[in-house]
Amino acid sequence: MAQAKEKSKSDIPVNIYRPNAPFVGRCLLNQKIVGEHAPGDTRHLKFDISGGDLRYLEGQSIGIVPPGTDAKGKPHKLRLYSIASTRHGDDGDDKTISLSVKRLEYKNPESGEMVYGVCSNFLCNLQHGDAVQITGPVGTTFLPPSDPKATIIMIATGTGIAPFRAFLWRMFKEQHEDYQFQGNAWLFFGVPTTDTLLYKEELERLQYQHSNFRLDYAISREQKTDDGKKMYIQNRMAQYKEELWGLLQKDNTYTYICGLRGMEDGIDEAMTSVCSKAGVEWSDFQKDLKKADRWHVETY
Ligand code: FAD
Ligand code: A2P
Repeated sequence: MAQAKEKSKSDIPVNIYRPNAPFVGRCLLNQKIVGEHAPGDTRHLKFDISGGDLRYLEGQSIGIVPPGTDAKGKPHKLRLYSIASTRHGDDGDDKTISLSVKRLEYKNPESGEMVYGVCSNFLCNLQHGDAVQITGPVGTTFLPPSDPKATIIMIATGTGIAPFRAFLWRMFKEQHEDYQFQGNAWLFFGVPTTDTLLYKEELERLQYQHSNFRLDYAISREQKTDDGKKMYIQNRMAQYKEELWGLLQKDNTYTYICGLRGMEDGIDEAMTSVCSKAGVEWSDFQKDLKKADRWHVETY
């Protein structure tokens, strides 16, 4: 099954740029992708990577080294971000890389002071032309399968949509000689409110154009479960348990989960219920899926 991957491991570009000698890209685009009154601020960022050797594949991440020093006077450490563009970039010219970044800000529960995340605020404040230190790419496992007939189930919360935007663009938007997707794609996407549905228009256009792309939202602060609770992604999945169980039986169904670490327990719960009808233990089944490279998790 491992050979069904996009590339053999030695073909996957990794750590072309390391933290001691990062690539310096330039910000080409910094666009807010949530509504004016949305809780939080998430941005689509596009960087110019021409003039260097940086290459990457869908599903990989890059490191960003924010400028400045930490409280101990040491240079800031890099933060990882999932790549939101395909290997060809948003302009299709192999010259850019894109990210979806949520600005981290929260109130310190003890002091009541606002705390601003170092790297996400650096990124979200970038102006056109600003320099960005980039490392990587990293990640050899969260890559989509090369089988064009595969069923690909994608489960995202918030900025966890980033790698799936890349998957979907490769599957449905770009034309390739060596890869024409003829399988089925199903995206479950969890966000707090309608105006935090990142890439809503792009996703819905793809859904409208391609009958083999299914899109299901879980809008936690607007939709409720039958028992009146917040609609989380695992609740939306549970509504389709028979179908999901059927798909997971096929050995060319691949599942990818990206976003909030907190969703993992809920998804395990939903999957336990998906399996229980067949008398199968989810933890055993999940182990088999992982062994076959058919269950991928990238949460943070
Ligand atoms: P920092 O200055 O590093 O502060 C973060 C720290 O603040 C946390 O470690 C925690 O100690 C504390 N903290 C955070 N929230 C709270 C809270 N509510 N209450 C109290 N303390 C808190 N992020 C994206 O936006 N988009 C992505 O596509 C993305 N992809 C990722 C992929 C991977 C593989 C990984 C590991 C992470 C990814 N992240 C992504 C997260 C990203 O790496 C950073 O962690 C994030 O941007 C915050 O970094 P920062 O420098 O702004 O915050
Ligand atoms: P909520 O914040 O309403 O509790 P974002 O990263 O943009 O905040 O989106 C994350 C989404 O994931 C939100 O809809 C959030 O809901 C939801 N969420 C929060 N905790 C969990 C959890 N444990 N399981 C699944 N979804 C969750």
